[in-house]
Amino acid sequence: MSVNKEIKRITTHILQEMKNRGEKIAMLTAYDFSMATILDDAGLDVLLVGDSASNVMAGHETTLPITLDQMIYHAQSVVRGASRAFVVVDLPFGSYQGNSLEALNSAIRIMKESGAHGVKLEGGAEVVESIQRIITAGIPVMGHLGLTPQSIYKFGTYTVRAKDEAEAAKLKTDIIALQEAGCFAVVLEKIPAKLAKEVSQLIQIPTIGIGAGPDCDGQVLVVNDMIGLTKGFRPRFLRQYLDLYAGIKDAAQSYIQDVKSKDFPNEKEQY
Ligand code: KIV
Repeated sequence: MSVNKEIKRITTHILQEMKNRGEKIAMLTAYDFSMATILDDAGLDVLLVGDSASNVMAGHETTLPITLDQMIYHAQSVVRGASRAFVVVDLPFGSYQGNSLEALNSAIRIMKESGAHGVKLEGGAEVVESIQRIITAGIPVMGHLGLTPQSIYKFGTYTVRAKDEAEAAKLKTDIIALQEAGCFAVVLEKIPAKLAKEVSQLIQIPTIGIGAGPDCDGQVLVVNDMIGLTKGFRPRFLRQYLDLYAGIKDAAQSYIQDVKSKDFPNEKEQY
């Protein structure tokens, strides 16, 4: 594995260079200090403080309930743990849609209060004005197209997007609009691999895929899914590298057993 630890801090410029020379970008979500410290030490290029925190940290069914204050709390914790990775934070539902001044104020709060390095927001042409306004303030923006979970009640399902010609054509127009607006990268979630390949070649900025096949310029997964903390969530695109649910449950049961049997603490584990 080649992780260039000489790089002091990943920047948008470095991410662009990675695309230009065909080096894949590795991104995972992170929501807290401990996990961010481990992932940063492992050499992740980008840590995303995703609004998936609403699901995996807070137990909500969707990403809609998480607030800007809660995102800032998660982002502050991740920033404290990340010394090399570029930290991007999701603008949560209701903090940017339809009002570019509100979008700018939300992005400024994230940057100022958390120390993160950029923000991500969902949508195409309809959010271009907000993206331009945020970038004008000097804040790097990552786009997000395809399955956009903040619109789940419009879609009605978490199934693959842009399978038909009309939606694929809109995605192509949208990604060009995001590039022209100045986004430094775009997440492509759950779209056909063929379309992801086409748009990754169409635009100059990096694409980061989740369920979008191997030809995106980088990949992202929700860390809790990737390490098997999320019980029973096994979508086709997910590669699960650990089964921490089982591991932690086993450890907790051993602890219960040791406490109940008075084996813990022993003589060496006391003062
Ligand atoms: O919130 C999140 O975790 C995300 C990723 C799925 C890209 O947006």
